[in-house]
Amino acid sequence: MELSGLTALVTGATAGIGRAVAVQLAREGAEVVVHGRDPRRGAEVVAAIEAGGGTARFIQADLTDGNDVLRLAEEAGEVDILINNAGIYRFLPTSEMTDELFDLHMDLNTKAPYLLVRALAPGMVRRGRGSIVNVSTLAAAVVTKGTGMYSASKAALEQLTEVWAAEYADKGVRVNAVAPGPTRTPGTDDMDAATLKTIAATTAMGRIAEPEEIAEAVVFLASERAGYITGVVLEVAGGRLGMG
Ligand SMILES: NC(=O)c1ccc[n+]([C@@H]2O[C@H](COP(=O)([O-])OP(=O)(O)OC[C@H]3O[C@@H](n4cnc5c(N)ncnc54)[C@H](OP(=O)(O)O)[C@@H]3O)[C@@H](O)[C@H]2O)c1
Repeated sequence: MELSGLTALVTGATAGIGRAVAVQLAREGAEVVVHGRDPRRGAEVVAAIEAGGGTARFIQADLTDGNDVLRLAEEAGEVDILINNAGIYRFLPTSEMTDELFDLHMDLNTKAPYLLVRALAPGMVRRGRGSIVNVSTLAAAVVTKGTGMYSASKAALEQLTEVWAAEYADKGVRVNAVAPGPTRTPGTDDMDAATLKTIAATTAMGRIAEPEEIAEAVVFLASERAGYITGVVLEVAGGRLGMG
């Protein structure tokens, strides 16, 4: 129970990787603020955490709306661990990328984490402790046709991770990122078996990850076990192949 007495906010905790992170943080004793848009999914995650003996509450917010992001920060209160996980990924060649999808990627994957860090890190500094983990993607580091907008929004998040780590290193706040490879989540559930097989073949291990495997790395970086680690992007991607 190394996280008891700490409060963790996990964005996009109603599904997939974020849900697995929320469950594992609660298991380690943190009080978890489960964020998402869907109250039904939110209630289910809170119930699962409580059934395991943990403590959680749900806050609904649409992170593409800056005012909603700030309301989330306000309602979450004092946060010791911030996991910027909510994100979208739409894969399209540039010629087919719309302005709306461009804005969606930047607002959700880059600007929302920026606003949350700006709102919540000062409290961490005041209390002299804090840990932030941003969920990026392997696609930010490798070149794949069609992932341009998604990769760019996460590459920006990785750069911010390193800048924030430098800004807060001497103030008791660590900032890191995890870059998952392909992972089985509701977001990837609608891909057909052939596509998933093709994606799995891009990893050295030849399989996609379970969300719990990504969560283990996120929780490690969030915890004091990673007390001397800041500014890293930890790839959790089953090994790279070829020139990737
Ligand atoms: N799955 C992969 O293969 C993979 C690989 C690399 C990186 N990642 C990254 O890992 C993170 C989680 O991915 P995932 O596959 O677990 O996602 P997912 O299954 O699609 O779930 C997305 C989560 O984000 C929330 N969300 C979506 N749009 C939102 C919005 N506008 N405002 C607030 N919350 C919103 C959803 O909330 P509601 O359900 O309540 O709407 C849900 O909790 C993302 O940042 C993604 O880029 C995923």
